[in-house]
Amino acid sequence: MPVSNKELYERAIKVIPAGVTRPFRFFEPYPFYARKAYGCRLVDVEGREYVDYWVGHGALVLGHMPKCVVDAVKEQLDLGFHFGVCNEWEVKLAEEVCKLVPSVEMIRFNNSGTEANMHAIRLARAFTKRMKIGKFAGHFHGVLDPLYVAVNWPWDEPETAGMDPLATKNTVLLPFNDLDAVEKILKSEELACIFFEPVQGSTCVAAEKEFAKGLREICDKTGTLLVADEVITGFRLAPGGGQEVLNIKPDLTTFGKAVGGGEFPVGALGGKTEIMELMDHIKYPKRSENVVQGGTYSGNPLVMRAGYEAMKEYKKGIIYDHINKLGERLKKGLQEILEKNDIKGYVTGLGSMVKLHFLKEQVKQYNLQTLLSKSNKEIEKKYFYHLISNNILAMAPGKVHFFISYPHTFEDIDNLITVTENFIKTIK
Ligand SMILES: Cc1ncc(COP(=O)(O)O)c(C=O)c1O
Repeated sequence: MPVSNKELYERAIKVIPAGVTRPFRFFEPYPFYARKAYGCRLVDVEGREYVDYWVGHGALVLGHMPKCVVDAVKEQLDLGFHFGVCNEWEVKLAEEVCKLVPSVEMIRFNNSGTEANMHAIRLARAFTKRMKIGKFAGHFHGVLDPLYVAVNWPWDEPETAGMDPLATKNTVLLPFNDLDAVEKILKSEELACIFFEPVQGSTCVAAEKEFAKGLREICDKTGTLLVADEVITGFRLAPGGGQEVLNIKPDLTTFGKAVGGGEFPVGALGGKTEIMELMDHIKYPKRSENVVQGGTYSGNPLVMRAGYEAMKEYKKGIIYDHINKLGERLKKGLQEILEKNDIKGYVTGLGSMVKLHFLKEQVKQYNLQTLLSKSNKEIEKKYFYHLISNNILAMAPGKVHFFISYPHTFEDIDNLITVTENFIKTIK
């Protein structure tokens, strides 16, 4: 007898807290357990198939199991995939990333976006000799203590139990897309760096171009390093990521997800040579002068090779024509049905990242704060389950948003719009 989702969940809750590896992977009454994936489809252990807009937390720009990645990985499996020492694929991938993302002159690989941001903090502090770091309220950079503050609304509520208050004492919160306020704060605070997401991942609120340009200028004026967290947007919005779209050059960039082809745990930190060189223990032999990096699996050949193969696809550009067009269609379609049905809501997004916000009240000015504070969580949750019942997987129960990948089609998008309109009619 094949195993059922219910049975797996009943076993899981006995040995895994809440039965899930991350809280938002819990679906009511129990999650489904994926058995296989291909293209933009996921199939669970009971054989039910979903059109997937979760796509591995946004990582799978090329979709599940892209042939170029899978073929290369299969070959590498026969050669060895955890050497521990240097391998050619980390060099090849580094060269490709440096070509595609011009602000990245040097790069180091590790195993997650969280780790990349941890290294970025240390590097920025070592380079500027300043201790404080800036982050935007509502932005997510992984669950590392100094950055895991003011992520979810309300922003003043602690994000987790067990946080050392001293760990966030050097974190300065900034309002997103508000240049004047950032400028004022930087007059009284000396920051080593400012982290930002070119497009905030779960709300799909993009940095305004003028804001990004102004932020770059303020950072230059104040000697603050600008760190673009492109863990989601890297190789998703364009071959050169969010910074290409916003037309700015950050000092440091962190990557994850798509940099390793999307199928493997990965992270990376890159940027200007003069900053990155602080990680060069040969140039800076004194322990107190160079920035250390760890990671048993950092740069392992399987992930590096997968990333290298994916880069060949990313640089063709055709992918972005397709997924950005689908994103535009989805945004427009969702906005139209909101207006037609007179529903309080708003659609945000850039490129292949789209979110439909259901709101408790219509507001005059939409920004990250108003969208989060007015969010109608109850309807959003119902929407998630309505999608699931129509074999569509969005990410995630309380925060429905869509990542589009290359295998998605116009038919998939039109179906998503129709299914959404059916839902909207039930809540009118
Ligand atoms: C913008 C951003 N930064 C950092 C991270 C953390 O990356 P990881 O989950 O690989 O640690 C994420 C994860 O989704 C992210 O969206």
